[in-house]
Amino acid sequence: MVKISEIGNEFFLARSNEKDFHRNIYFKRFKGNGKTVNIVFDPGTKLDGDIIMESANKLFGGIQNIDLVFLSHQDPDVSSLTPFIMAGAKKSILITSIDTFRLVSMYGISEKRTLFIENFNTEVLTIKKTGHKIRFVPAYYCHFRGAMMFYDYETNILFSGDFAGGVNTRKGEGFLATEDSWEGIKIFHTIYMPSNLAVRETVNRIGLLSPLPEIIAPQHGDIITGDLVVDFLTRLDQLEVGIDYIKKTEPQRELLMDSLTAFIKRIKNSYPGLWDNLKEALNKPGQFTTVFKIERDDITDIKIDYMDALRYLIGLIEKVIPPSSTNEIKTLLHFELESHNVMLPVSILSKLKVSEDHEDVDNFENLLQ
Ligand SMILES: [Fe+2]
Ligand SMILES: [Fe+2]
Repeated sequence: MVKISEIGNEFFLARSNEKDFHRNIYFKRFKGNGKTVNIVFDPGTKLDGDIIMESANKLFGGIQNIDLVFLSHQDPDVSSLTPFIMAGAKKSILITSIDTFRLVSMYGISEKRTLFIENFNTEVLTIKKTGHKIRFVPAYYCHFRGAMMFYDYETNILFSGDFAGGVNTRKGEGFLATEDSWEGIKIFHTIYMPSNLAVRETVNRIGLLSPLPEIIAPQHGDIITGDLVVDFLTRLDQLEVGIDYIKKTEPQRELLMDSLTAFIKRIKNSYPGLWDNLKEALNKPGQFTTVFKIERDDITDIKIDYMDALRYLIGLIEKVIPPSSTNEIKTLLHFELESHNVMLPVSILSKLKVSEDHEDVDNFENLLQ
């Protein structure tokens, strides 16, 4: 059974059930003047058919009563169910940007059933039937050229598409963001957003909304409320992502990749069995992505913050290497990092520290001749 939560007046959330990286699908009933207008935001994929059918039944009295489908952009995780919904909801209209339509039109969606956001000539729009005020807010290049967000003035909820979305780093039940959600937002933006300039422009556009959103509802991750709205926007404003991140960290990333390749060579020679364990764990994609790209036992890419990647590797060592060998492997890693001059923060150094009374430490001398 699909769990539907009301996050604001007549504004509902249903989440897909992946643990690490899920989709949020939102539904809103605009009710006024004795009439109702039903809208679904980023309806997801064929995997989400049950969510849509069940939610539309409960909230709208059936899929045929969907009036509007809003697409923030064209990615398949957002848009691929749209043609099926529009086939079932014969009177429904798609609202999206011209840039997005250019791509989703490939699903066979007709231009006649689409409203293009760029063609509205006022910023704040009124839903004629019900009198509600809404506004489309561009999120240019975050992460698509024609990405759009949707501001509902009745609830002060900003549906933000991929912007402010995240991987699930907060553990446990519920859907509200906490401090623990930030890490996931950071990882997602570092990978998917092109540059800090694009992120900053989007933050500024949100900052100009009056009133400021009380809730940011992204297509992935947790719902941001309360003080965290301004707090996370402020951090996003400062975050180096995409191309600026790659540029800045390139020298250190290169050093890290070299040192990890050397580390792999050593562990492969000295502990082939343990390398098999570690390699299997490294190559197993999470629901989000694999952290390292490994080609013929060389590390050829690191997909997230390089220090986060190192923390992840140390975590894996602790998880898959038997306790009797963990210290040796960590020491080996530490040695390669230091000899390649990788700058290590204290938080990493403390994870690499081995307990001094461990009997296997002495053996390490033999490994490095
Ligand atoms: Fe996307
Ligand atoms: Fe997405």
